[in-house]
Amino acid sequence: MKIGILTSGGDCPGLNAVIRGIVLKGTTTYELEFVGIRDGWRGVVDGDFFPLTRHEVKGLSKVGGTILGTSRTNPYEGPRGGAESIAKTLAEHNIDGIIAIGGEGTLAAADRLANDGINVLGVPKTIDNDLRATDYSFGFDTAVNIATDAMDRLRTTGESHQRCMVAEVMGRHVGWIALHAGMAAGAHVICIPEVPMSIDEVCALVTSAHDRGRAPLVVVSEGFTLTGMEEAYSDKGLDAFNRPRLGGISEIIAPEIERRTGIETRSTVLGHIQRGGSPSGFDRVLATRLGLNAADAIVDQAWGQMVSMRGTDIVRVPFAEALVELNTVPLARYEEASALFG
Ligand code: F6P
Repeated sequence: MKIGILTSGGDCPGLNAVIRGIVLKGTTTYELEFVGIRDGWRGVVDGDFFPLTRHEVKGLSKVGGTILGTSRTNPYEGPRGGAESIAKTLAEHNIDGIIAIGGEGTLAAADRLANDGINVLGVPKTIDNDLRATDYSFGFDTAVNIATDAMDRLRTTGESHQRCMVAEVMGRHVGWIALHAGMAAGAHVICIPEVPMSIDEVCALVTSAHDRGRAPLVVVSEGFTLTGMEEAYSDKGLDAFNRPRLGGISEIIAPEIERRTGIETRSTVLGHIQRGGSPSGFDRVLATRLGLNAADAIVDQAWGQMVSMRGTDIVRVPFAEALVELNTVPLARYEEASALFG
């Protein structure tokens, strides 16, 4: 069997480790043949493939980014898009199936293609940890480690100047990175999309930490909503994908904290640093295991499903199960952490 592998959507530490796991097990245990698909669904639509052997994946588990390239192309768009045209392109190259490594958007496209008769298997990917049907996704642990390290550094400079430090982390829809990194770094305020707060509530926590002689450390997810100040968001500007641009919320919250509390405040947007570089040991192992199990799933022709982590096991779940709703932070998890704020 000849299988194409693609990575799609935002990149994520661990993508290369998945690719290596698939190719090593697929070629040595099962004698499968692989091609790399360049730049996500764009490469499927355009028939942009190249041979992928053991040689190409050598030493890849520690390498950040993706050797395949990625894009946010929708496989149903454009003159060569759509299931019928894709089936033709795959047949022309004797490709029997696709492994799509990606997040919500990628898996939604994979689900639709699978329903339209294309052989697709999925591997979930997101640093935001916002996918259901997998307990953790690779990339998340690395992002949390990077954000924790950054906040430890912000803390020492904040303490030297007795300043309030605001760290904006990724998390467009969910607050997992903020929750975990905030707990790990001992933040005094954690602001996540699932728990909207008013500026008064944020300032009360900042003042209380300051009154205890601390340099207040605030972590805020990019998708956090400051209630009562929604009008300020209209000036934030949208990015090319119609999303509030990175840095928007910290531009609002930091000056407002300073103005209301009188505490000098600085903000830092961690941005894409959270997605770059080498994966953590945990993410290398998780990504490699997903790759190894994806090779098994190909042999079993488990099309329309994705491999995912349940507890400490790797299992298979239908795409649809992962797409029902986002994996948001449960209120109980937030309340547990909030006991540390006061
Ligand atoms: O991968 C998801 C994510 O990390 C979001 O938290 C963030 O909003 C987005 O990617 C940024 O994506 P881009 O690279 O397209 O700016």
